[in-house]
Amino acid sequence: MGILINPSILSADFANLERDLGAIARADYAHVDVMDNHFVPNLTIGLPVVTRLAEVSPVPLDVHLMIDDADRWAPAFAEAGAASVTFHLEAASAPVRLARELRRIGVKVGVALRPGTAVEPLVDLLPEFDMVLVMTVEPGFGGQSFIEGTLPKIRRTRAAITASGAPVRVQVDGGVSRATIGTIAAAGADVFVAGSAVYGAPDIPAEIDALRALAEAASRSS
Ligand code: DX5
Ligand code: ZN
Repeated sequence: MGILINPSILSADFANLERDLGAIARADYAHVDVMDNHFVPNLTIGLPVVTRLAEVSPVPLDVHLMIDDADRWAPAFAEAGAASVTFHLEAASAPVRLARELRRIGVKVGVALRPGTAVEPLVDLLPEFDMVLVMTVEPGFGGQSFIEGTLPKIRRTRAAITASGAPVRVQVDGGVSRATIGTIAAAGADVFVAGSAVYGAPDIPAEIDALRALAEAASRSS
């Protein structure tokens, strides 16, 4: 499985989302942050907007749900046209049942962990998921600094996946930039979300290429 670069449209211009999705056509997925002002102290977009984004985006949508009651809401985002739906372990009361329901609808399933949530309870359940999202900032806002203390969890997550033999990706989200992506890739992540680094760059396609090249080089030499 190669490296995936998923720019976060949280840092795009919300009055020009179709244009800003067009700017990331060379990325692998568009990362869409859904926040409910309960699970996180911020509010973004909901189902009707995600449905339209899925219709106009040149790349598939990687939806990151930062919402309470994931069991109730996540399937609707899968049906709205997302290619991948990630819910937070802390917000799901029956994560395995939910993952199976999402797979039945036909999307890839991710399970996300806040920086303070351990990965160990998931170790025996890894085959139920396509991706583990290790949050590398506290979820809620773009533009925060990468939390170095999450690196050991990224390493332990990758080691547990390797031991399980299941084809599960490790996504990281928060503070990913040219300065941090090499270290994170060497720790075992293979899916990189970057919001401010991509949309704040003067040349967006060149930034995606640069992040991909740095991650590929670091993961090859690790
Ligand atoms: C934060 C979101 C991220 C955010 C990352 O809760 O989940 O996807 O857009 O932003 P950067 O890349 O600027 O840290
Ligand atoms: Zn996100």
